[in-house]
Amino acid sequence: MLSPFTSFKGLAETDLFSMFTPKRQLVGLDIGSSGIKLVQLKESRGRYILQKFGFKPLEPEVIVDGTVMDEGRVVSAIKELFEETNVKVKQVAVSISGHAVIIKKISLPLMPEEELEGQVKLAAEQYIPFDINEVNIDFSVLHATEAEGDVPGEMSIILVAAKKDKINELTELVKGAGLFPLVMDVDAFAMENMHAINYPVSQDETTALVNIGASVMNVNIVRGGASLFTRDIPIGGNRYTEAIQRETGLSYEEAEEAKKNEQAAETSQVAVATVLDSVNDEVASEIARTIDYFKTTTLDADVQHVLLCGGGAQVKGLVSQLRDRMSAVVEVANPFGEIDISGSEFDQEALAALAPLAAVGVGLALRSVGDR
Ligand SMILES: Nc1ncnc2c1ncn2[C@@H]1O[C@H](COP(=O)(O)OP(=O)(O)OP(=O)(O)O)[C@@H](O)[C@H]1O
Ligand SMILES: [Mg+2]
Repeated sequence: MLSPFTSFKGLAETDLFSMFTPKRQLVGLDIGSSGIKLVQLKESRGRYILQKFGFKPLEPEVIVDGTVMDEGRVVSAIKELFEETNVKVKQVAVSISGHAVIIKKISLPLMPEEELEGQVKLAAEQYIPFDINEVNIDFSVLHATEAEGDVPGEMSIILVAAKKDKINELTELVKGAGLFPLVMDVDAFAMENMHAINYPVSQDETTALVNIGASVMNVNIVRGGASLFTRDIPIGGNRYTEAIQRETGLSYEEAEEAKKNEQAAETSQVAVATVLDSVNDEVASEIARTIDYFKTTTLDADVQHVLLCGGGAQVKGLVSQLRDRMSAVVEVANPFGEIDISGSEFDQEALAALAPLAAVGVGLALRSVGDR
């Protein structure tokens, strides 16, 4: 069976790996456009213990729609985050998402493992809309019992192609902060690993995981420990902030504040509530549309559970808008649900408030070198 730790370490430059021994727990470093999240976990007797958690907000102009505009600022923010949290480990797992990465499920005839890599590369040329020389390819084989609509004599493969320039950019950034990026993951899969340790894995229940960031939403629909469908949608929390600015004339900072807390808004609360309502409608319909698309294209597919994470999951009214639209149980995920967070250095209230933002970071912190 495929390990719950879907891993795509092959996306990174291979020379980074060879000199390290396997099974070293990495620090999860989620470099998001609204801020950097750091998570360090320790495994002890089958349970994970939170060792460190940190969050460093980034100004909106530093990373715009997934593109790093100010490398120096990102590097210094990473360094500050490591200093503030007093993390000494330098080996990290990082991730990419959005238009730099394409995930496709493909079928290939059953074949011996040694032939697979070559065949996947050939298939990739057909399925990946990028120049094949400009991407790093990685793949993971789904076993017959896990793959939806499997045809006898064939195997299902999850193919991942990530733009080399994006991977190089991220690698250089992280190295610039004095760290070693040993695992390069994908946000959608990091979220899947976070889910696997916190929620029961069941063959009977299909769950849509939705990570709502600042500029992008990652959707990953999973069942029985395997991914059935993924999609990134280029909408996120920024959409609300921009709409509030446009409708009320508030500055970016004021609009961000108003989005999180209408009461604190330096403008009409009604105006803010109206904007939240209409953007919630847009976000909820994008999510519902994606789930409907999955249902119509996948055999025997229903979605019983929708788990939201990312900062955008906290927007007031979004959960209820989604509940109104679908029969699935909709809730905000707790990435720390099954993790021991009782360490004395943690302010429990602050941790709870930031928990949804930590989903990808937790998923990355579960990775270790050679875990696939
Ligand atoms: N309490 C809250 N209420 C509403 N929105 C919130 C809240 N907390 C955070 N957000 C919003 O969530 C978004 C940040 O979430 P997150 O940290 O998951 O995104 P990111 O990883 O930085 O972005 P991306 O992955 O798109 O680059 C921002 O738009 C932020 O304004
Ligand atoms: Mg993010």
